[in-house]
Amino acid sequence: MELSTALRTTGSVRAFTDEAVDDATLYALLDDARFAPSGGNRQGWRVAVVRDLAKREALAELMRPVWDDYVAVRGTGMTPFTVVDPGTYQPAERAPGHSPNDLLDNIATTPVVLVVAADLSLVSMMDKDLDRAAITGGASIYPFCWNLLLAARDRGLGGVMTTFLARAEPAAAPLLGLPANYAIASTIFIGHPVHQPTKLKRAPVEAFATIDGFAGEAFAG
Ligand SMILES: Cc1cc2nc3c(=O)[nH]c(=O)nc-3n(C[C@H](O)[C@H](O)[C@H](O)COP(=O)(O)O)c2cc1C
Repeated sequence: MELSTALRTTGSVRAFTDEAVDDATLYALLDDARFAPSGGNRQGWRVAVVRDLAKREALAELMRPVWDDYVAVRGTGMTPFTVVDPGTYQPAERAPGHSPNDLLDNIATTPVVLVVAADLSLVSMMDKDLDRAAITGGASIYPFCWNLLLAARDRGLGGVMTTFLARAEPAAAPLLGLPANYAIASTIFIGHPVHQPTKLKRAPVEAFATIDGFAGEAFAG
């Protein structure tokens, strides 16, 4: 697939056919993804290929309440789990039971479930001493995650990266044998798409690029 087409048409896939993804294919995806950039080329990504169904269900159980809170807060119009104005952030009162989530509800039959962790001893967190939440460390891990999804798309597969397991990291850690200096970055679901979305809704360049600073005129090309 032409790169520009892949960049413009790789949407999130959350429903998979029951066709398996064999280990050779998964290996090939990881083998492509490893060419991602990372600070100092330290390649701090680590991947758990989660096959065990009981483990998958246990992870889904941990992610469900996080998803419920996400949905509840999103319903109020706020950004869930934002670090901006955290004083106004309250998980809304939610009804008993769980919000439906195809990824979690079908985790046992999803062809590929990966947990991507960052070995923090290999990640430079350039903004770690600022008086706000650090963000730069993720830049050494998420290009790898995205490469994985682009590699999947190139082979007619689809998937989605998620971050909800990170909120349950203390409980997920023993299930995954997560070393003390590792952080959960993403849970990635991959398979053969029931439907491959290709019309992506994204804001135009003028909406986010400005000249000579962020208060400048829109960059219109
Ligand atoms: C950091 C990150 C976290 C995400 N977390 C979730 C998630 O928890 N559950 C989910 O269904 N999708 C998740 N997504 C997928 C986004 O919802 C998706 O990229 C966005 O809505 C755009 O949809 P599209 O790619 O289909 O156009 C996540 C994406 C990113 C980059």
